Amino acid sequence: MSETVKIFDIVVVGGGPGGYTAAFRAADLGLSVCLVEERERLGGVCLNEGCIPSKTLLHGTSLIESVSQCSSYGVTFGEPKIDISVLLAKKESVITQLTDGLDRLGKARKIQRLTGSGIFKDTSTLIVADGDGNKIEVQFNSAIIATGSSPFVLPGLPDDPRIWDSSDALNIKSVPEKLLIIGGGVIGMEMAQVYSALGSEITIVEMLDHIIPPADKDLVQPLFLKLKKKYQIFTKTRVTEIVANVGTLVANFESTKIKDSKTFDAVLVAVGRRPNSKGFGLEEIGLEMNKQGFITVDDNLQTSIPNFYAVGDVVGEPMLAHKATHEGKVAAENIAGNNVGFHPETIPCVAYTNPEIAWMGLTEKEARKTNIDYSKGKFLWGASGRALSVNAANGVTKVLFDKKTGKILGAGICGSHAGELIHEAVLALEQGATAEEISNTIHAHPTLSETFAFATEIVTGTITDALPPKKR
Ligand code: NAI
Repeated sequence: MSETVKIFDIVVVGGGPGGYTAAFRAADLGLSVCLVEERERLGGVCLNEGCIPSKTLLHGTSLIESVSQCSSYGVTFGEPKIDISVLLAKKESVITQLTDGLDRLGKARKIQRLTGSGIFKDTSTLIVADGDGNKIEVQFNSAIIATGSSPFVLPGLPDDPRIWDSSDALNIKSVPEKLLIIGGGVIGMEMAQVYSALGSEITIVEMLDHIIPPADKDLVQPLFLKLKKKYQIFTKTRVTEIVANVGTLVANFESTKIKDSKTFDAVLVAVGRRPNSKGFGLEEIGLEMNKQGFITVDDNLQTSIPNFYAVGDVVGEPMLAHKATHEGKVAAENIAGNNVGFHPETIPCVAYTNPEIAWMGLTEKEARKTNIDYSKGKFLWGASGRALSVNAANGVTKVLFDKKTGKILGAGICGSHAGELIHEAVLALEQGATAEEISNTIHAHPTLSETFAFATEIVTGTITDALPPKKR
């Protein structure tokens, strides 16, 4: 066992989007940086077993649905076949290209990479152990914790390889005939789509009253109406027990809708994630955390220990890569002596289902709770020339404005490319745009982006692409 001592301005623990962004920005600000990551590859869950692989699988499997719609345009193909090994190789090649790119970006910035797990000895020392038992002592002035999160494990489920978390699901070891998905959130719905395209019969149970519960129910409705023709979806339902038999998994439920037990070949548990904040010395050095284990930080991402900062999933919801990257930059700036706060007006959320769901700012259910006097514009895509042309007429764009200030409060989009379209609304919110300003902004015709302008024109009363205000 060798022990070497290395000294840095900053040690960053965790090489996901929050950690590598913090490390890169800190190096660009002139600080010496050591980036410690257990995995061989940078990118964390997002790149290795989350956002990027799931989007690759979703794109691959969505091609099957696209092909099935071609006949209405006069184009026909034979029955689509999918070779899962080729699909997985494509996923792997995308991950490799991106993680190799991160390696190059880190080297160009002269960042010291250590592959291994770190444990804090005190507030200026991290011990990093590699897989061969070698230990390196890293001494630092400041630390950034970016250790992310892990899937929440439902208590009481048997330990059985047919009970999966999201990482198992992304590896597609097998395509079960009958797949039960516990949790109708983003991971549950995205993975349902992948496995349905591969041929699994999907059952989803969600304990709340609709799928993708953080978004408004009416926004999710076009997706729900489409999927309920194909999947069994049980809301207000929980799994109480799973019995692992030799041939099948038998599930029992607490539900008004399912009376009897049901059998499945595999179960995906997608009921949220928990922070990775325990087991590497943070509690021992007295770092403050809340009851759920999220590290407490202030607006500058500084923790209760002044030379410790924390970013990403480990500091709280929403557990999204784009939140982590922005926080990473803020933490690096503060350590470099620039006083920067993390004050986004909103952090957009996207479910990459088909149709996609994207939302930002206040949802309508939140607006109702806050008693803000708001006006709403809701444009159904059936009246959009572009949506009809590209077979996307089931979409909807909704936007809320504050009646007092006229400014945008929130927006939601369900439909093709919603995850791209939402950013106009995000920018509008960051800039405090009013309904008049948005409706006076000329949108190209015919585009799906127009639906945001049309929804706004419903609020200003100037819409001509729908019935006049009195007749609606
Ligand atoms: P989630 O919080 O999005 O959804 C979990 C769902 O499970 C919730 O709707 C919840 O009501 C339900 N649930 C919880 N316990 C249950 C039970 N016992 N029985 C039935 N339903 C139950 O969590 P998910 O989908 O696991 O994703 C984890 C995290 O990863 C989220 O924070 C999400 O933001 C992030 N993520 C984001 C993606 C995106 O932006 N597209 C994609 C994948 C993950």
